[in-house]
Amino acid sequence: MPYLSPGMNVMMAAARKAGRALIRDFGELENLQITRKGPADFVSTADQRTERILVDELSKARPGYGFLLEERGLIEGPDKSHRFIIDPIDGTTNFLHGLPQFAISIALEREGQLVSALVFNPVTDEMYVAERGHGAYLNDKRLRVAVRKNLSEILVASGAPFMGKEGHEQFLAELRAILDVTAGMRRFGAASLDLAWVAAGKFDAFWERNLQAWDVAAGTLLVREAGGIVTDLSGREKMLETGDILAANEALHKPLLELIRKTKP
Ligand code: IPD
Ligand code: CA
Ligand code: CA
Repeated sequence: MPYLSPGMNVMMAAARKAGRALIRDFGELENLQITRKGPADFVSTADQRTERILVDELSKARPGYGFLLEERGLIEGPDKSHRFIIDPIDGTTNFLHGLPQFAISIALEREGQLVSALVFNPVTDEMYVAERGHGAYLNDKRLRVAVRKNLSEILVASGAPFMGKEGHEQFLAELRAILDVTAGMRRFGAASLDLAWVAAGKFDAFWERNLQAWDVAAGTLLVREAGGIVTDLSGREKMLETGDILAANEALHKPLLELIRKTKP
């Protein structure tokens, strides 16, 4: 059985409550695809409502903690040493298109250090959790990163920049470099779940640029607690600040970092 801190129990209860509402919305979306206004407004309402449920539940149980939220930004609390970092729906485009690959992502920082992490896909009921120093779990199952060492055998995940995002040429160059030497690449559309799947050993590695702290905070702790290495693309531990990330096992991290760093469009 995983060790679950009292804080984690609070996070799980909040995620399950918000997840129930999200599943109802996900069902409702099917009817909205055909309306003239389209489902985009509905999704942004779902985003905001999910975030509100999470903040309400977490602040009831942990009054005073701060928040870093995708929808509402930074909310400072009187307790300066604790902060929740939340993405209410990671994988919005999937959600919008009826694809069941999206998640609620919650990380807890203590004195600037990630201590608890949760990534929850309410459709598949996958609840990934990690506590600093106590391992990463999917439901009750302990997670370990994959052990593959040869680039030619690995499956790598990433996210592709879309309209309005910078870095298209750089991404295409990196993609080509990865495709040239690995067994394949996947782009599933939810960075938090990509990282959870690295922790679970399904993907051997994940890299992406220009993400936000709420996309990667929880997933970073999941991978580390599953025995993997996570850095930004300069090899430092500034993923939350730079938005660039590479996660892999110990053997693969260095060669992949070198490969990505030396790639120029
Ligand atoms: C997005 C997802 C996606 C990544 C994007 C993110 P959102 O988050 O994590 O996988 O490629 O860059 O913005 O907008 O769905 O919360
Ligand atoms: Ca996100
Ligand atoms: Ca989001």
